[in-house]
Amino acid sequence: MTTASSNSKEDTIIVHGITKCYTTSMDLVPPIHMTSTFKFSDQHHAASIFAGTEEGYLYTRISNPTVDLLEEKIALLEGAEDAIATSSGMAAVASTVMSFLKPGDNIIACNALYGGTFSLFNTHLKRLNMETRFLTPSMSNDKNNISPLIDDKTRLLYIETPSNPTLDIIDIRLWADIARQYKIPLCVDNTFASPYLQKPISLGADIVIHSATKYLGGHGDIIGGIIVSNNNIVTQIKEEYVHHFGPAMSPFNAWLILRGVKTLAIRMERHSSSALTIARWLEHHPKIRKVYYPGLTSHSGHAIAVKQMKYFSGVMAFELKEGVNKTAMEAGKAVLNNVKLCTLAVSLGDCETLIQHPASMTHATYSEEDLKQAGIAQGLIRLSVGLEHPDDIIQDLEQAFSVI
Ligand SMILES: Cc1ncc(COP(=O)(O)O)c(C=O)c1O
Repeated sequence: MTTASSNSKEDTIIVHGITKCYTTSMDLVPPIHMTSTFKFSDQHHAASIFAGTEEGYLYTRISNPTVDLLEEKIALLEGAEDAIATSSGMAAVASTVMSFLKPGDNIIACNALYGGTFSLFNTHLKRLNMETRFLTPSMSNDKNNISPLIDDKTRLLYIETPSNPTLDIIDIRLWADIARQYKIPLCVDNTFASPYLQKPISLGADIVIHSATKYLGGHGDIIGGIIVSNNNIVTQIKEEYVHHFGPAMSPFNAWLILRGVKTLAIRMERHSSSALTIARWLEHHPKIRKVYYPGLTSHSGHAIAVKQMKYFSGVMAFELKEGVNKTAMEAGKAVLNNVKLCTLAVSLGDCETLIQHPASMTHATYSEEDLKQAGIAQGLIRLSVGLEHPDDIIQDLEQAFSVI
């Protein structure tokens, strides 16, 4: 069993964790407990575990040693007491909101969100008579805009920062102060930053969720999610939702994410430094109208990002100018069809650079009006900068821009 100590540097803890879960072997890497159920020594043992008077595993939908290792590690990195892994990032979002809301209740959220989250809040929760009161990103960093939306049916405050796909930066400490004042939990989607770059709990948030599909996994080979919080909230989410509705994580996926997390520190440093290089190059490119990257001093959220993030992560977005006989939208489509190294695909946080068009892909669930409200231009292109050399990514974009 390998462990770091609690005063080890973060990069060391990311590699080793502080392992409480049992492993029965001397393997450097913990085994995958690929089992759906667990044996009991006799009926009394089984009954004690079911009654909760004895600790132990009984069934993998409820808990599993490999999944426990992942939960323990992410809780540690986020500075939280506990965690629960889920089958996807959307399962993490849905399990959290469904365990807090009942019909008639409401959530307050900034509308700069991943398209799936927006659609869950704006359409599917609405059908269950659960309301979301949205703020635009430009309203979201002023307490005077947020507080008036709260009433005695508000059960959750919800933000995503940096947001998908416009990289809006929401002030976590400001939202956490409001959450404390009204005694309503604040949930932060920390997918774009990862715990290496941003720790919402240390800024006062109550719940942090991730699409582990992205930077935590880091290799584009799994779908997963995780929720971290204090013991009471994690128990509530498990008992009110996850155990019964069943979006449990597979032990194999947990093992792959654990493997990915070991390199989180060096990956996030490289993603961030390459993204900053590319964003600065784009910002001065004559064919670019606007670059959205919180590491640029021209970004409206830069000052807050400097306060709450270590670096600025690997995702950016940009808008092209009109080309010769091409609208900005047509120019964007031409670039997507002409990249050679960058891959036209959704998702982010992988080793490979991924490029996509939010209005027709990840955010296709937004109406034209919703896109306008969230500040997502029709021609916006999102780039998830991978681990290739930044010069090669720049060269690929340059050759793609030449067709405009
Ligand atoms: C910020 C954010 N949250 C949640 C999700 C949903 O995660 P998943 O695709 O793992 O369900 C995504 C997916 O892109 C995302 O970008």
